[in-house]
Amino acid sequence: MNIGIIGSGNIGGNLTRRFSALGHNVFVANSRGPESLADLAAETGATPVSVHEAARRGDVVIVTIPEKNIPDLPRDLFAGVPDDVVVVDTGNYYPQQRDGRIAGIEDGTIESRWVSQQLGRPVVKAFNNIYAEHLLKSGRPAGDPNRIALPVAGDDDRAKSVVMNLIDELGFDGIDAGGIDESWRQQPGTPVYAADFDAEGVRRALASASRERKPEWRAKSGDKAAGRE
Ligand SMILES: NC(=O)c1ccc[n+]([C@@H]2O[C@H](COP(=O)([O-])OP(=O)(O)OC[C@H]3O[C@@H](n4cnc5c(N)ncnc54)[C@H](OP(=O)(O)O)[C@@H]3O)[C@@H](O)[C@H]2O)c1
Repeated sequence: MNIGIIGSGNIGGNLTRRFSALGHNVFVANSRGPESLADLAAETGATPVSVHEAARRGDVVIVTIPEKNIPDLPRDLFAGVPDDVVVVDTGNYYPQQRDGRIAGIEDGTIESRWVSQQLGRPVVKAFNNIYAEHLLKSGRPAGDPNRIALPVAGDDDRAKSVVMNLIDELGFDGIDAGGIDESWRQQPGTPVYAADFDAEGVRRALASASRERKPEWRAKSGDKAAGRE
């Protein structure tokens, strides 16, 4: 499969490593341009590209940059990209530690719904609740009793099944977590977040999540507005 990855940090770098090792063609981009990705390319065999090219070369395009930087992506990032290209959002909103205030999310828009609005494309939310290090090292064969499961939320069942198949290849169980409007169940602060549960544990954690955004996951008064908002 051709996989575009926008963001080459903790998550983007490790997804580049794992998908390349599995034999996929990875096209990876960051904010500093393809020249800055020479080491990652040499290590993995992935092709360093611009963000526009990553969006155009993938059958699946994974957007994995800090939430505050989402509005900085080019407005025409997905212009002309076919509708059947699956866009994945790995993002989490960290208002107090990293992102500052994002008004849309503070006003009640679910994080991945807000990302989808910014990108102008439907997204599948996945990989947001597992540490990058575990994504790299904790994959196990199907049926292993210690296999970690990952929630996958999105409004398009075909797109979700494409992502769940990739998750299976990486050595994790993909769990259908409902539509994007249900994806608050896997946001920071919920029971499934960074918990490394198995399939049954993920289902239980999603079902027991509370919609309320806790104070530690809200911007504080005076926090700077993020991006172009
Ligand atoms: N770290 C984790 O364990 C973890 C786990 C699950 C989910 N997440 C979430 O996944 C997202 C990415 O996290 P991360 O830890 O991988 O971030 P990170 O290590 O800080 O890396 C961020 C990457 O985004 C790139 N970037 C920033 N602005 C960009 C722009 N405008 N255009 C293109 N690329 C841009 C950066 O480019 P440069 O390299 O050029 O600076 C960098 O490669 C975040 O929302 C995070 O909350 C993280």
